[in-house]
Amino acid sequence: MADDLIGRALLWETIQQKEHYPIFRLTYLSKPVAPFTDADFDDIEHKSVKANNERDLTGLLIVHDDRILQILEGREAVVRELYAKIKADNRHTITKLVTEVEDEERLLLTWSMVVRRITNIPAEISEQYQQIYDELLHAEAHSEITIDHIDLFKVIALFASLPVA
Ligand SMILES: Cc1cc2nc3c(=O)[nH]c(=O)nc-3n(C[C@H](O)[C@H](O)[C@H](O)COP(=O)(O)O)c2cc1C
Repeated sequence: MADDLIGRALLWETIQQKEHYPIFRLTYLSKPVAPFTDADFDDIEHKSVKANNERDLTGLLIVHDDRILQILEGREAVVRELYAKIKADNRHTITKLVTEVEDEERLLLTWSMVVRRITNIPAEISEQYQQIYDELLHAEAHSEITIDHIDLFKVIALFASLPVA
């Protein structure tokens, strides 16, 4: 029991450690050119998880019909390089670069690119997502992605991970 607690405390401490470099967080919105197929999802997820791990990149990608949102966190040069690739990907069109900010810590610590297609989430969460999405889409340049936004996106991703009832 004590060992277990110590183990957990050490793990927590490791997680809390600041990175040795500033974290750059980029958030963009995009639209699929045509509705994403299972093959598109498989391809993006398959490539991203491995490639992002190797780049020390974390992030979250949510696809809710034609509202795509992605947050990327990591070293600035690495994030920018990947963003240039993603931008050139002809499966979607970027509609807005919402934020590019430097931070002392990662907000998506353990999320090495979680790709979620949202098809079956509670209506109120879906509505909340659409509302926040549309606010971000129409907001001034460099609007903020708050911790509350990120928490909502995480909840959505978690719901989307549940088996369909
Ligand atoms: C919406 C969307 C999100 C993507 N996210 C990532 C990502 O996080 N990491 C990644 O490596 N590729 C991602 N991709 C795929 C890249 O656009 C590109 O296909 C991939 O990096 C492979 O590039 P390469 O084979 O030229 O290295 C994404 C594509 C789309 C359409």
